[in-house]
Amino acid sequence: MSTDQASTPERGCPFDHTLLTGEQSPTGCPVSKRAAAFDPFEDEYQQDPPDYLRWARDQEPVFYSPRLGYWVVSRYEDIKAIFRDNITFSPSIALEKITPTGPEANAVLDSYKYGMSRTLVNEDEPAHMPRRRLLMDPFTPEELAHHEPMVRQLVREYVDRFIDDGKADLVEQILWEVPLTVALHFLGVPEEDMDTLRKYSIAHTVNTWGRPKVEEQVEVAHAVGNFWQFAGKVLDKMRLDPDASGWMQYGLRKQKEHPDIVTDSYLHSMMMAGIVAAHETTANASANAIKLLLENPQVWQEICADPSLIPNAVEECLRHNGSVAAWRRIATKDAEVGAVKIPAGSKLLIVTSSANHDERHFSDADMVDIRRDNASDHLTFGYGAHQCMGKNLARMEMQIFLEEFTRRLPHMKLSPQRFSYLPNTSFRGPENLLVEWDTAQNPERKDRTLLQARLPVRIGEPSRHSMTRTLLVERVTPVADDVVQLRLADPHGKPLPRWTPGAHIDMECGSPERSRQYSLCGDPEDTSVLEVAVLREALGRGGSQWVHGNLSAGDSVRVRGPRNHFHMDEKCRRIIFVAGGIGITPVSAMARRARALGLDYTLHYSGRSRASMPFLDDLRDLHGEQLHVYSGEEGQRNDIPALLASPEEGTQIYACGPVRMLQALESATSHWPAGALHIEHFVSTLQALDPSRENAFEIELRDSGLVLPVAADQTILMALRKANIDVQSDCEEGLCGSCEVRVVAGQIDHRDMVLTPSERAGQNRMMACCSRARGERIVLAL
Ligand code: HEM
Ligand code: FES
Repeated sequence: MSTDQASTPERGCPFDHTLLTGEQSPTGCPVSKRAAAFDPFEDEYQQDPPDYLRWARDQEPVFYSPRLGYWVVSRYEDIKAIFRDNITFSPSIALEKITPTGPEANAVLDSYKYGMSRTLVNEDEPAHMPRRRLLMDPFTPEELAHHEPMVRQLVREYVDRFIDDGKADLVEQILWEVPLTVALHFLGVPEEDMDTLRKYSIAHTVNTWGRPKVEEQVEVAHAVGNFWQFAGKVLDKMRLDPDASGWMQYGLRKQKEHPDIVTDSYLHSMMMAGIVAAHETTANASANAIKLLLENPQVWQEICADPSLIPNAVEECLRHNGSVAAWRRIATKDAEVGAVKIPAGSKLLIVTSSANHDERHFSDADMVDIRRDNASDHLTFGYGAHQCMGKNLARMEMQIFLEEFTRRLPHMKLSPQRFSYLPNTSFRGPENLLVEWDTAQNPERKDRTLLQARLPVRIGEPSRHSMTRTLLVERVTPVADDVVQLRLADPHGKPLPRWTPGAHIDMECGSPERSRQYSLCGDPEDTSVLEVAVLREALGRGGSQWVHGNLSAGDSVRVRGPRNHFHMDEKCRRIIFVAGGIGITPVSAMARRARALGLDYTLHYSGRSRASMPFLDDLRDLHGEQLHVYSGEEGQRNDIPALLASPEEGTQIYACGPVRMLQALESATSHWPAGALHIEHFVSTLQALDPSRENAFEIELRDSGLVLPVAADQTILMALRKANIDVQSDCEEGLCGSCEVRVVAGQIDHRDMVLTPSERAGQNRMMACCSRARGERIVLAL
């Protein structure tokens, strides 16, 4: 095969490869030059993994890296699907050495009787889940709340040590040691030997995820061996004091009740891996977060001015610049990832940091947007059955760091420096973080009461409040009968997130409880405004009437988003756009994009009368003959069955409009290939729950074993909230997809508008805000 030429996809690969190397993957798929050059131990990856893999997300989202011997996966949905299926994609490889060591280092490890084996994170089912559930209690919000005073006290003491110096290396002076101390407290380890532990845990990272040179391997092996032996000794010490507090002691007590589940080998491995899991991850995440925020001084100042933004800022930092850059799985059978065939036994490097910058899931993914409403969808904590158990402890530590720093050192700045990282695939954070400030401006010199201030820590995901942005109504323009267009801008002129056609925002119409979704129209690349068009609906639930009756230029509104559940496939051969009335808003943005891309498309737009149809003139100017207008008043109608009579391979239909029109489209496309029709619903067909017609049932939560009743007039979401279990939600009427939960067992009565027929048939996911159980019990993966 010649190199440097484009290739058509071969066996099992859906991608066109360019600039080939002549090498092949194990499936015979050609390896492109970029895939061959992929090297996660290089500085370029360390400095910015999502940027390093931008080409892959766009061109080859799943590729084979001959250098690493791994398949590399870079897109959000593919990685989430891998996490979801921990039977096909086993986590057993998670702690394996990514770079095998030589015989000399192996002999050193043997001399220490090094026996790192299964912990939780690399344990397969069915062994894993019973152990996870058994060891869950110390991570409940109530238990974690007990650690808050200790974390806060530590952070304050460490800040006291350098606050009058005017400069610090935050990693050296606080961010490394505080999470280590917290981790030791949480695990129940005595605080001694901190320095030794510090050396050991770095060695564990290099040993597991790094590429130590041959001459370094022996030194690393000694440190790892010592760490292993030390972990064993601490465990023995703990056995002598079985009633002491700490997660390991809790494990030792559980061992007495279930020796078959909590084994000795597990406890010894967990003792060592647990320190690293709880310490380095959080230390690095905190350093990454502070670095990111100081690199974006406007954002930093905003948090200093309004610390209630901190919980979502933490989440956005974990998304944008998380501390676990990539994780691993191994395929237990032949499988598919993003339509690429992956043979049994393949190793997968799933680059979660790349997924977190995937534009297909996160609007304007490279922007640091502390009001991003889906920031907590990030995959930095993994996802599914193995999702990080300590995530809320880490969030708590990060919130307290940010709260103390923004209050005591709001004038802190990054010093000029080049950041260095420990070369490895997974654990990522700067080795130093130099900052400086003018001590004369330390706020506590003027106001000592500052020292006592504290905000309540939010345990769990951020609240809606911290995701809401207040925007200025710049202009309200009537654009058709009963339709106004709103131009919304940041009150301080700051840029707003870019968005993709089909995206919407949620607007609070007078009160937080009355939140309505409006699709964005206008130009997605224009970051100075967000534009929506709102039809006054006399029989609606009051949102549009509020907009029409109350909003005028100069007012403020509170919005969340943008978010997109109505993505357009930009690679399809042909597109038919169908819009009815106000349904033109998302469709107009899509058609504009199709035109800009030079795609083959037509736009069919119908309405009661021309006067009731927004944007007609603009659409005609832009789309010319591609636009077909049907005005009911003039006796014209869009003959949907005729329009869609013959299915066309490669043609996609995107539609938005009244329910009747969408139903007509669904029946007219019943003979089209599955997935050809994409529709955006504006109006939920859900009714209020009528207890005389609904059944009561129970939900069992798989991870905790909790069983909760759901009354006939209650939704699953309500029942979960009542039990203090946080599940994201937004529209709460089956439209937005944010309350999706996984279903492990039981029949689902789907009532949402989000899932496709095939997803519904899968019976493994549901919208908690509206869908119900058919039988008496349903088991959720929560
Ligand atoms: C698992 C990341 C903090 C304990 C994981 C996994 C990741 C991760 C990526 C594997 C997830 C998967 O396979 O789906 C992080 C990050 C942290 C953090 C980024 C800090 C920002 C902590 C803390 C603790 C902890 C503070 C303990 C106190 C665990 C445990 C597991 C785990 C026990 C295994 C769960 C299982 O396999 O069932 N973490 N972690 N982590 N983490 Fe964390
Ligand atoms: Fe929107 Fe459930 S909250 S679908």
